[in-house]
Amino acid sequence: MRKRTIRPAKQLAGGVEPPGDKSISHRYAMIAALADGVSELRHFAAAADCRSTLDCMKALGAEVKIDKDTVRITGRGLRGLQAARRALDAGNSGTTMRLLTGILAGQEFVSRLTGDASLQKRPMKRVVGPLREMGADIRAREDNFAPLEIRGGRLHAIVFDMPMASAQVKSAVLLAGLFARGETVVTEPARTRDHTELALEEFGAPVEKNGKTIRIQGRAAGDGRAKLQPRSLDVPGDLSSAVFFIAAASLLPDSNLLIHNVGLNPTRTAILDVFASMGASLQMLAVRSAHGEIVGDLAVKGASLKGGVIAGGQIPLLIDELPMLAALGPYTEQGIEIRDAAELRVKESDRIAALAENLRRMGAIVEERPDGLRVEGRNAGKLRGAEIEPYGDHRIAMAFAVAALAAHGPTVIRDANCAGVSYPTFFDDLERVAER
Ligand code: S3P
Repeated sequence: MRKRTIRPAKQLAGGVEPPGDKSISHRYAMIAALADGVSELRHFAAAADCRSTLDCMKALGAEVKIDKDTVRITGRGLRGLQAARRALDAGNSGTTMRLLTGILAGQEFVSRLTGDASLQKRPMKRVVGPLREMGADIRAREDNFAPLEIRGGRLHAIVFDMPMASAQVKSAVLLAGLFARGETVVTEPARTRDHTELALEEFGAPVEKNGKTIRIQGRAAGDGRAKLQPRSLDVPGDLSSAVFFIAAASLLPDSNLLIHNVGLNPTRTAILDVFASMGASLQMLAVRSAHGEIVGDLAVKGASLKGGVIAGGQIPLLIDELPMLAALGPYTEQGIEIRDAAELRVKESDRIAALAENLRRMGAIVEERPDGLRVEGRNAGKLRGAEIEPYGDHRIAMAFAVAALAAHGPTVIRDANCAGVSYPTFFDDLERVAER
């Protein structure tokens, strides 16, 4: 329960490189464990969440070797996983639990999957429903929550029109589709991150994308040609982690920061458009492609941010960045309003409540709503340092560390270690580039 004190800063200067992308690392690790042979994953996410995924894949029989940020995984083939001796533990990671449930639904053995107190409160029906339709027998506490008991095997393909825009639900069904008889077709109501599709393609799975519809050919048992190829891959830096530095550099007028090696997949960059439309000074440099993903550097300078309304179809593409945007609200000209984002209430914490409470602690004027919040802009007065309660949520802790840089007086972030869920060296990296 380590506390961190953040003192106000004058500017951010120099360079920073965010850890490997969390979403991509999960997917590469899971799919590598299903390939035939050794995959090498470089710049693998340092996130505790991705460690949970590695531990689960190891418990299911894959060989996992970690050497700094390089992970070597010896996959056992599409039919090679084995029942784990104990319950699999997804820790704090919703992505581990939901995607792995898709894979386990296709295995001819029984698995138990659990997580920490926060993860046990998050809804799982959204993946359990379609996977049951594919033929898996899945039991859940109150039919919705972990621990899950998954009796998999003998899946059949489905045509699934997703009722909600969620990359995790899409991914769970596509991964199960790998093991199903026939062609699984998933259609999203709105675009979400497409790392699963790109990763499956990279490892040689028969996926096809057409607008918001994705098809995968199942490789049912007995199909001798059914194989995924091991790969040697570089994980791009995590844009969702870089966002805290984009926000911090924008906030402090004399900043000049270079953020190296950031993933710029178009299903993730909506946040850059929002920053640009609010008046941020952002430049993409050295853009290049990497195994279907896009990578580049970002140059950020201080700017006066306008603020505005974020709503509708923008929300799923910005979902992880909303805490940072809300916490910037009091420093913007018009304030920030977030609508249509009730999903924020079932993330690692109830993010709407956590944002409203902590913003008020710092003196902001906030209206909390069922599906979002309105944060008054700089006319409502400057923020003051306060003690922040992140409720164990990494993105709340990091968002308020950034807001603290431009407040009056020091801010204390309680339980700051929770940042390690996605970004273990966040506070040290921030201190290194903050000038006072
Ligand atoms: C993720 C998808 C998003 C996001 C989460 C990571 C992923 O969740 O919030 O942090 O890696 O697929 P939803 O799919 O539930 O929106």
